[in-house]
Amino acid sequence: MSALAGKRILLIIGGGIAAYKCLDLIRRLKERGAGVTPVMTRAAAEFVTPLSVGALAANRVYSDLFDREDEQDVGHIRLAREHGLVVVAPATADRMARLAGGLAEDLAGAILLATRAPVLMAPAMNPAMWEHPATRRNLARLGEDGVRFVGPGTGEMAEKGEAGVGRMAEPLEIVAAAEAILSPKERPLAGLSAVVTSGPTHEPIDPVRYIANRSSGRQGHAIAAALRDAGADVTLVSGPVTLPDPQGVSVRHVETAAEMLSAVEASLPADIAVFVAAVADWRVAAESLRKIKKTAEGPPSLALAENPDILATIGHHAKRPGLVVGFAAETDDLLANARNKLERKGADAILANDVSPEGGVMGGSDNTIRLVTADGVEEWPKLAKDAAAGRLAGWIAARLGRSVRK
Ligand SMILES: Cc1cc2nc3c(=O)[nH]c(=O)nc-3n(C[C@H](O)[C@H](O)[C@H](O)COP(=O)(O)O)c2cc1C
Repeated sequence: MSALAGKRILLIIGGGIAAYKCLDLIRRLKERGAGVTPVMTRAAAEFVTPLSVGALAANRVYSDLFDREDEQDVGHIRLAREHGLVVVAPATADRMARLAGGLAEDLAGAILLATRAPVLMAPAMNPAMWEHPATRRNLARLGEDGVRFVGPGTGEMAEKGEAGVGRMAEPLEIVAAAEAILSPKERPLAGLSAVVTSGPTHEPIDPVRYIANRSSGRQGHAIAAALRDAGADVTLVSGPVTLPDPQGVSVRHVETAAEMLSAVEASLPADIAVFVAAVADWRVAAESLRKIKKTAEGPPSLALAENPDILATIGHHAKRPGLVVGFAAETDDLLANARNKLERKGADAILANDVSPEGGVMGGSDNTIRLVTADGVEEWPKLAKDAAAGRLAGWIAARLGRSVRK
């Protein structure tokens, strides 16, 4: 049975040549048992008629935000809420820009802002429009906001002699993407709580200066998202990063190592702890409350004090989570250091990664990890940080005896 059976899908049809494919899309969705509510933009009605859309959907076609009858009960909010998935096909460059900018001047825009359902966009446009920096920006922004995309593909354009990326995904590809979104997910960590740290810490020298490191938070944030996807209730304690907060995760923002430790302790008890943050080992012993001035006596000397060791503290804590995982960012003697940390810090596993500058791990998008436990070492291939996070979530589930159903 299709994951679409019995689901209500709101289909926003945009004003592009590919709008004609929506007639087939409606048919395919209905064949799989979905109910389809069509919303047509003003431009869409220039390409396909509401009559054929409504007849195929066997449903009323909505198009006007200011419809007196429909809006008696604020119909656009009702439409936004009553559906399990919103599909936008074709998603024009203009529609992507409007949603990226949070605009809601027509019915489609108002629904897209008001809905809490997943949104799947099937972009279709001329290759030059698709490649335009503005469209690239909007695509990235929408991705950060949680919008999913299918296509576009490569092929002949309606414009004579033009070909390239911009062709709308075929109706069956859109159906498959919708099914993937609506399929029940494996949630092996459902019912468990996790605390994850991410990013660098900033240790103040004076009100304007601080000691920091190159951690971007990408790996930690990806792990928080992967544990969330696996069903865990996740608290992410993040140092200063430029990444957006992952959705569906409770985020505590901190600056210093001491604040990070307090926030972690405040999130206990937890079943799982994964310490990914690059916590400064030292802070300035006596932070100056005023900006340190240049003087004739030469540069100031900074006395350092040791920061709390978050992994070791939690690894030996009265409220120690059942599973404690740490990261060891090393430039030398990777494995020996990781094995040593495992015992000393009371961790169940250390993910050792080589952060020598030539590897580009700190701040980069990939990671090559060795997972060190009391049982031995597992060498993972070089993986994108998202993929490494997914693999770790799978390892945690298996370790806790919550293997994924086959
Ligand atoms: C003949 C024609 C074809 C068009 N095809 C596309 C297209 O494929 N993709 C696109 O992004 N815009 C296309 N446009 C421009 C959109 O119709 C226009 O940007 C409109 O404002 C989109 O509004 P909507 O997203 O609310 O439907 C086309 C315009 C015309 C006149």
